[in-house]
Amino acid sequence: MVDLSGKFAVITGAASGIGRATAQLFAERGAKVLAVDRPESAILTAHEGNGAISVLAQSVTDDDAPEKIVNAALENFGAIDILFNNAGVSGRSLTHETTDAEWDRQFAVNVRAPFRISRAAIPHLIKRAEEKGRARIICTASVMAFDTDIGLCAYTASKHGVAGLTKTMALELGKHKVTANYILPGAIETGMTQASFADPFIRGVWEKKAALRRLGQPIDMARAALLLASDEADFITGHGLVADGGLTLRT
Ligand SMILES: NC(=O)c1ccc[n+]([C@@H]2O[C@H](COP(=O)([O-])OP(=O)(O)OC[C@H]3O[C@@H](n4cnc5c(N)ncnc54)[C@H](O)[C@@H]3O)[C@@H](O)[C@H]2O)c1
Repeated sequence: MVDLSGKFAVITGAASGIGRATAQLFAERGAKVLAVDRPESAILTAHEGNGAISVLAQSVTDDDAPEKIVNAALENFGAIDILFNNAGVSGRSLTHETTDAEWDRQFAVNVRAPFRISRAAIPHLIKRAEEKGRARIICTASVMAFDTDIGLCAYTASKHGVAGLTKTMALELGKHKVTANYILPGAIETGMTQASFADPFIRGVWEKKAALRRLGQPIDMARAALLLASDEADFITGHGLVADGGLTLRT
């Protein structure tokens, strides 16, 4: 069983869905977690009663977000072993109808924030890896980091960006024993998708598409993140872990 005892993790987008489930799973496995989400989210109540999880109400897109997030982790724990850049937003509009504002909104959360937060955390991850032999960056991309769909120009481009960012960090940080990997969720039942999957027809289509004949649950993605966070993943870096129940197997 993967044991994260003694490890300190920062998880963004941790009030809901994949981030929330990951914070809970990492805490169950012994980690201390800083769970970050927007002030408008349920972050202040989402982990109530869980002594292993500290919360920070902070948008990842604010100019001073990286500094505030890293400082909060250092104040709480004194070190960072695992940075999980998970917060994300989506939206659907045809390319010729997508506004600059919509494009920028998705890029700000999905790519710019992971870049800026990673940049701020990297010196501390390197320091921790020097002391402990390893540290981790994990990002949440999507199967839209290699596929696409109609209306997803900004989302798909941003998730391709997450893959490119993560692979580059992996290449740069390997010599410091810091790995960087990304997960590629398929169709997961979370806050982001609940409106779509509430429609039985849409739900049925996506369930049938997957080899495992079901939607993914947040815990399925939390387990994928746990694999990449574990000591067992020491030689895995620059990898995109598809966790989609076989959704994208068929052409
Ligand atoms: N649900 C899916 O089917 C699916 C598929 C592929 C990838 N993903 C990715 O998974 C990640 C998690 O999404 P989810 O499905 O759990 O959805 P979710 O909506 O349940 O959770 C996303 C969280 O990110 C937070 N967030 C959004 N903007 C933020 C900001 N500016 N600052 C801080 N937090 C912010 C939200 O408040 C929310 O709590 C996202 O990166 C998403 O793109 C989801």
